[in-house]
Amino acid sequence: MVSNLKGRHFITEDTWTKQELDTVFETAFDLKRKFALGESTRYLQDKTLFMMFFEQSTRTRNSMEAGMTQLGGHAHDLTPDKMQISHGEVPKDTAIILSRMGHGIACRNCFYGTGLKYIEEMAKYSTRPVMSLQDDMYHPFQGLADLMTIFEHCGKNTKNLKVTVSWAYAESHSKPLSVPQTQIMLFPRYGIDVTVAHPKEFPLSKHIVEKAQLNAQKGGGSLKFTDNMDEAFEGAHIVIPKNWGGFGFYGEETYLANEDACKAEMKQNIAKYKDWICDDRRIKLADKNVKLMHALPADRNKEVTDEILDNPEISIVFDEAENRLHTAKAIMSLTM
Ligand code: CP
Repeated sequence: MVSNLKGRHFITEDTWTKQELDTVFETAFDLKRKFALGESTRYLQDKTLFMMFFEQSTRTRNSMEAGMTQLGGHAHDLTPDKMQISHGEVPKDTAIILSRMGHGIACRNCFYGTGLKYIEEMAKYSTRPVMSLQDDMYHPFQGLADLMTIFEHCGKNTKNLKVTVSWAYAESHSKPLSVPQTQIMLFPRYGIDVTVAHPKEFPLSKHIVEKAQLNAQKGGGSLKFTDNMDEAFEGAHIVIPKNWGGFGFYGEETYLANEDACKAEMKQNIAKYKDWICDDRRIKLADKNVKLMHALPADRNKEVTDEILDNPEISIVFDEAENRLHTAKAIMSLTM
C-alpha cells in the first residue's frame, strides 16, 4: 500500500504505478464496505472540490458530488456558462484561482483535440490535485470503476481473462474515444487479454494504441484488433459493446481544420453499421458465463438490446455505475 498520494493529479492511470493503482482499489473496496455498513468516512472534512463540466453527466457528476458529501467535504458544480470561461478566461488563471480557494479541481472537457490539453494546462498551474472527469483521450474514473467491477465478478486474478471492447452502433451522439482508450491502456496491465473490434472508419487514436501495446507487453496481458464483431465475441468472458466517434480516422489536426465536414462524414459512416449491436445471437458466441459491461448511458436497442442489458445473469452495468462512487471517493480521499 502506498501512502504518499496527496497532491497527485489523476488524469490518466498511465502516470500511476500498478502499486499506486492497487492502493486505490484497496481504498475503494474499504470505502464500499463502510458505505454498506453506514460507517462514517469523513476523510475530507471541510475540504472543497471544484467540478467544471463542459458537457452533460449523470454518473460522474453525482459520484463526485455525493462522494465529497460522504467524505465530509463539499463539491461546487460548475459549468462554463456560470464562469468567466465564457468570456475567455484561460485555464491557467482558472486553475491558479481555484487552487487558492479549495483543495481539488475536477474537469470534464471532451472536445476532440482540445479537452485533454485544457485539463493538462490546469494541472500545470494548479497547486492542488487536478482530476479528469473525462476528456477527448481518457476517462480515468470510468477505467477504475470498470476494473473494480471486473475484480468483483471475475476475481482479482485477471490473468487470461478475455475482454472484448467492441464499437457498436448509436444514434444519440458521437461518443468520445476516451472510454475504450482508457480500457485498452489499463486492462492489459492486469494481465487481461483485450480484443478490440471496430469498423475501419472508427479506429482508436494511433498513439494510444501504441502505448497500450507497450502496457500489454509489460503487464502480461495482450491486445489485438479485428473488424469483425462476431469474431471478437467468440469465447469472451466480458463484452463491452459501446459506440465511439470516428475521430481517430481523421486525427486532431485534420479534424480541427475541417470539423463540419468530418462530422457530416462520420454521421454517414455510422449509418453503415446498424448491425453492430450486442444481441442474443452475438452473446451466445461468448463464454457461457459472459458478463456485459457498459459505461452508460447506453443507446438501448442500438448498442445493446434491452434483453441483454436487463438480464441480471449477464448484465453488470449497474454494479459498474455504482462503483463510480467508491472509486471516486478513493481517488479524492487519497489525493486531496
Ligand atoms: N459513464 C459516464 O461517464 O457517465 P456520465 O456521462 O453520466 O457521467
